Amino acid sequence: MAMFQTLPGFRDFYPEDLARRNHIFRIWRQTASAFGFVEYDTPVLEPLDLYRAKSGDEIEAQLFSFLDKGKREVALRPEMTPSVCRLVGERAGSLKRPIKWFSIAEFYRYERMQKGRGRCFFQLNADIFGEAGPEAEIELIALQIQCIRAFGLTDKDFCVRLSDRTLWFHFLGSLGLDETRIRALLGAVDKHERNGDAAFKGYEEAFGPLDAGLKAGVLSFLSVRSFEALERALGGAGAEAAKARLDDWRKLLGGLEAMGLRDYVQVDLSVVRGLAYYTGFVFEAFDRKDELRALAGGGRYDDLVGKLGGSELPAVGFAIGDMTFALLLEERGLTPVISQAPDIYCVIGGAAERRAAFADIHGLRSMGYRVEYPMREVAFGKQFKAAADSGARIALIYGGDELAKGIVKMRDLGDRTEREFPAGGVTAAVREFFGSG
Ligand code: HAM
Repeated sequence: MAMFQTLPGFRDFYPEDLARRNHIFRIWRQTASAFGFVEYDTPVLEPLDLYRAKSGDEIEAQLFSFLDKGKREVALRPEMTPSVCRLVGERAGSLKRPIKWFSIAEFYRYERMQKGRGRCFFQLNADIFGEAGPEAEIELIALQIQCIRAFGLTDKDFCVRLSDRTLWFHFLGSLGLDETRIRALLGAVDKHERNGDAAFKGYEEAFGPLDAGLKAGVLSFLSVRSFEALERALGGAGAEAAKARLDDWRKLLGGLEAMGLRDYVQVDLSVVRGLAYYTGFVFEAFDRKDELRALAGGGRYDDLVGKLGGSELPAVGFAIGDMTFALLLEERGLTPVISQAPDIYCVIGGAAERRAAFADIHGLRSMGYRVEYPMREVAFGKQFKAAADSGARIALIYGGDELAKGIVKMRDLGDRTEREFPAGGVTAAVREFFGSG
């Protein structure tokens, strides 16, 4: 009978795969914590309604959803944002602001399979609640950059594309469009890079042929690639609100510049993000060669906590996924090699020697050393080979002669030198060897 396979788009993690994943998570965790974020978690299974009409049509169509045995409509979480809004919304009154939270968790989306996209994937989510100004964006964009930079990637490898749904609303509003049409057009802008003019099809089906002037306006606004070009593009719109918004942009870009991160940021008005709840600045990290799907994405969503039943609370955040990121590390030769070798391999004679060794083995393990030994009695030659193959730094030798003399031998498996010490002095000798005092 053939072995069972994982479901399409799902992944098994063999130990070397999991070691690499854990390494990435460890660095993300350290980085988020260095930025003052604290970690939380939420259930994998949520009420389906949490995502209905909040995350947007695209995610809703990709939900793994079903009726549970109690006939509840439930869904595997496709993203963290609605869940974290519930947590924060419930305690909004008592949490100290700004609320800076992060999590590392697995998500599920029934997506078409492609490079760097699966049906289950991990994300680090980082969000700030309770800060309405661009100070929150500075913090989050800096964190997003650092989560990638911490692995040795530079501004030559990736950038964060920065855009603004607020300005898109101003701009399209100044062309006379109402909110429904603006939202439909932003949906088209989101797909324009991938689909070209076919992206406008949905809009035209709903509202009739796209006016040529309007289309030209949209195409020219989405081609804005610098702050100066943005100022020029809004010159005509001229409204005070748009001018005030440009001050937020100056604050944001100035903050990132002061952190030494300006070269990582690319103004790019073609980014609007597919998720429905974003209300302000939006940003996505991409590899510079533009060969991979987005590494990370986020933005401001000031209405979502309120929409989920909490009181109004400004919010901004992002998520970085593990799949595209691992691909990029691989392409740049930065995938870490992680040793899972033991520190110490014990070579053991017969039953009496095994008893003597076990006392030391357990003691060393409880001190945190990684210690291995053969489960069964085998010839010394085989044990020394196993010790060398294991990658351990030292072998401790518990033979009949050693036991009779009341000593243990320690062999440095690197330079093959050996020394002896009294049986009671094993831990001290090991400590000295590994140099931890
Ligand atoms: P998102 O853009 O849908 O945003 O996902 C963020 C990142 O998760 C993507 O850039 C990608 O790295 C990864 N990702 C998403 N879908 C998949 C997939 N099917 N396979 C592999 N990786 C994937 C959000 O999820 C927002 N909730 C982020 C956010 C947090 N906004 C505010 N706070």
